[in-house]
Amino acid sequence: MKQLTSALLVLCALTLPACEQAFAPAAEALLIAPPLGLPALPIPPDSPLTRARIDLGRTLFMDRRLSHNNTLSCAMCHVPEQGFTSHELGTAIGLEGQSIRRNSPTIYNVAYVEQLFHDGREFSLENQAWGPLLAGNEMANPSIGYVIEKIKVLPEYAGRFEKAFNGRGPDMQTVGQALASYQRTLVSANSRFDRWHFGKEQGALTAEEKAGFELFSGKAGCSSCHLVGDKQALFSDNRFHNSGIGYARSMGPAKKHRVQLAPGVFVDVEDKALNAFEQPLPDVGRYEVTLDPADSWAYRTPILRNVALTSPYMHDGSLATLDDVIEFYDGGGIDNPQKDPLLRPLGLTTQEKRALLAFLGSLTGDNVAQQVAEARATQPGDRPPAHDPASTFRRSY
Ligand code: HEC
Ligand code: HEC
Repeated sequence: MKQLTSALLVLCALTLPACEQAFAPAAEALLIAPPLGLPALPIPPDSPLTRARIDLGRTLFMDRRLSHNNTLSCAMCHVPEQGFTSHELGTAIGLEGQSIRRNSPTIYNVAYVEQLFHDGREFSLENQAWGPLLAGNEMANPSIGYVIEKIKVLPEYAGRFEKAFNGRGPDMQTVGQALASYQRTLVSANSRFDRWHFGKEQGALTAEEKAGFELFSGKAGCSSCHLVGDKQALFSDNRFHNSGIGYARSMGPAKKHRVQLAPGVFVDVEDKALNAFEQPLPDVGRYEVTLDPADSWAYRTPILRNVALTSPYMHDGSLATLDDVIEFYDGGGIDNPQKDPLLRPLGLTTQEKRALLAFLGSLTGDNVAQQVAEARATQPGDRPPAHDPASTFRRSY
């Protein structure tokens, strides 16, 4: 093996500089041992984790200047102290108050997500980052090149890409790899549940939480989609299901909203009237990716780790609390022609609902405070570039 590696390195040295780049970081590649309850961390071979890449990615994640008008960072929708999501917003709000049709998902354990976004339309974290950077209603940058030229002129990044990527500066790939590297380190497990279930520590859960797990994996049928393995648990099948929430949002009967006009004076306003100001954004879920009508209003099963920290819930943030989620499942979801047959009315008692809630609360990882502190210790700088990168750009070849 050693011989083979050195032969390859010699070959590399004689041929492509790119080959050297592929090899060099592996030497300093970090191995992150998965915490109790999680499988080995999936790392793409061409995007190894290194300390320099993770630190650079964290800076980028926290930097408001990555948005067109220097106001909105990734961390303002995926807020570290709010479970890397946004508690106040059912659906996210992007640059200059623009509406986004979906809820900001948590970034905890995102390394394990196989198909990214609620509809699974993206496959790698490296590519995913360009979605929000370029979306007109998120960070609203006019182009890929604009983002890259801007990073090049920000003094805080001088030399950092080159150091992390063997001499390569900011480009489409290295920006994606740095952000991906940081996000992959947001693993969180070794929860009280893990210590009880996998670590066999009897006292780690209360009797009520244990009863909640029995329901989760038994009568309530939750674990048929939120999978729990023998040695680890992701609490997701990484598949897509129609629970009726998306269907009801676009096809359901008109909803009324109670609006207060003056103290004590209320009127009921129909959706139609409110929609005159802002049309609801259409959302057909997984169908938009596969164009298969059978996938209409199906969304990805989320990982439930840290779920007590990641309200509001579901792809549209329409359920505010875990109590609401449990009531929703107890009712069997919302009927529609393609509702997942696994969802059916459960007939849970009040005590059983309490137990399920308690169990969900035991899934909080042991490193949350540390992850938040690490994110907040990052000082990306906030001075916008002296000149607009688009107006100062000059081709150098
Ligand atoms: C304006 C709010 C907002 C900003 C800013 C934002 N995101 Fe998001 N993010 C979202 C929303 C909403 C979704 C879900 C979109 C969907 O499913 O269509 C999402 C999805 C994601 C996902 C997929 C997670 C999963 O479980 O599938 C990742 C990863 C992610 N964002 C990372 C980032 C990074 C990195 C940045 C900065 C470059 C960023 N986000 C900026 C709101 C935001
Ligand atoms: C048919 C598969 C399926 C079953 C069974 C199921 N879930 Fe889900 N669960 C999902 C999907 C899919 C979503 C995401 C739906 C969406 O985004 O609209 C979800 C979302 C959730 C969420 C919200 C997580 C978040 O971050 O937004 C919680 C909490 C949850 N489920 C708990 C449960 C519990 C508790 C049960 C059992 C009572 C259960 N689930 C049964 C598939 C399922």
